[in-house]
Amino acid sequence: MENKVIRAALLGMGTVGTGVYKVLKMQQNEMEQKLGCSVKIDRILVRNTEKARAKTGEDPVEITDRFEDIITDPGLGIIIEVMGGIEPARTYITEALRKGISVVTANKDLMAEYGGELLDIATDNGADLFFEASVAGGIPIIQPLKQSLSANHLTEVVGIVNGTTNFILTRMFKDGMEFDDALSMAKDLGYAEADPTADVEGLDAARKMAILASIAFNSRVVFRDVHPEGITKISAKDIEYALEMGYAIKLLGVARNEEDGIEAYVCPMLISDKHPLAAVNDSFNAVFIHGDAVDDAMFFGRGAGELPTASAVAGDVFEVARNIRTGATGRIGCTCYKQIPVKKFEDTRNRFFSRMVVEDRSGVLAEMMEVLAGYKISIVQLIQKESRIKNMAEVVIMTDSVREGDFRDAMKELAKRTCVKEICSIIRVYGKTIG
Ligand code: NAP
Ligand code: HSE
Repeated sequence: MENKVIRAALLGMGTVGTGVYKVLKMQQNEMEQKLGCSVKIDRILVRNTEKARAKTGEDPVEITDRFEDIITDPGLGIIIEVMGGIEPARTYITEALRKGISVVTANKDLMAEYGGELLDIATDNGADLFFEASVAGGIPIIQPLKQSLSANHLTEVVGIVNGTTNFILTRMFKDGMEFDDALSMAKDLGYAEADPTADVEGLDAARKMAILASIAFNSRVVFRDVHPEGITKISAKDIEYALEMGYAIKLLGVARNEEDGIEAYVCPMLISDKHPLAAVNDSFNAVFIHGDAVDDAMFFGRGAGELPTASAVAGDVFEVARNIRTGATGRIGCTCYKQIPVKKFEDTRNRFFSRMVVEDRSGVLAEMMEVLAGYKISIVQLIQKESRIKNMAEVVIMTDSVREGDFRDAMKELAKRTCVKEICSIIRVYGKTIG
């Protein structure tokens, strides 16, 4: 049988592009056996061609800074987009799909906003659009959700899907560091970018949760539907109290399919130290799901980095190659066939942790409990310690489940009471009970 070579183009040769180039080379000798064909990167698009040439050496690969050189090549089977950002990636992918060329991308920014539109174009043109690397880097989660778990009704997807913030929180938890020091360390070690805003403010994780929720619940959820909160206000003291109460603090992406709609948010949360997600440390990622048939399942691994991310991209490339070889591209397109409303964040329910500085005199706790009772808020744990400030006490409460909007209103009312000097932190608590 003739050895079929599927020609591919790589858009971008940065961290992930370089990894993809390396992994495909590492697999060169086994591709034929694995796929019944081989995949060869023939063209690379970058802005700085010299920088890319330094990485490919003597390899006979065309390097260009003009997309026209890629899209006008008549024999291309796959385009691998690893440039990032919305434009020009959206335009390039659209053009490729309209020509029936299958696309593999790692682009969460794009898929979290325009995934529905691009998947429809892919289906209309009988092409594949795969994006495994856009969520949790090297961890297989998108194909498992779309394929292996598709015989479930999934009710919950909870993830630690940002490695930078997980590294920072781990250092705060294990070494008692404050946020700024842990962030500096993350930058020094190359985990955090020079501008870490998207990571530490929860935006990167919110994009990933939009993608996961859409696939898990078969209903489109976009980036603006996911409420994002970051970890910049978490202090070493909060972590100390959490530990004392039997919890870790993690930046969690939560997506739930409830009777009255989908809940989707990212925020730092206390999570019982008995939950498997609490043990996911350093820059590792994990995604925990619950389905009506499979029950609980967790996926764990490297959420970023050159080779781990390239592993996911190359796995998608292999799948496209198999589909091209068997004439089966376009088999799995958009899986969002429902239209479930996304709930307003204030209508979501959680338990809460709050640390406050209050006057240290009789009747203060009673006054606080009266305010909370007015909103039907029940306390499940309470710690009071002497404060370093004279005549003040530090009070930490953990509540039972309460509507977000009601808890906010209760805290606003508490903040007005003269006995409450400062509300230092408000952090949500994941799960119903510590068990
Ligand atoms: P990167 O290191 O910044 O590399 C980007 C590459 O794209 C560079 O080669 C750059 O070329 C090229 N590029 C950017 N804009 C271009 C344009 N307009 N025209 C032509 N070339 C352009 O980015 P990365 O970290 O590899 O990330 C790539 C994608 O993977 C992003 O969508 C990211 O979210 C996703 N991702 C990354 C990771 C990770 O660990 N890094 C993990 C999961 C997903 P020049 O160098 O010549 O400018
Ligand atoms: N910045 C991301 C993280 C990796 O820290 O997990 C790319 O998705």
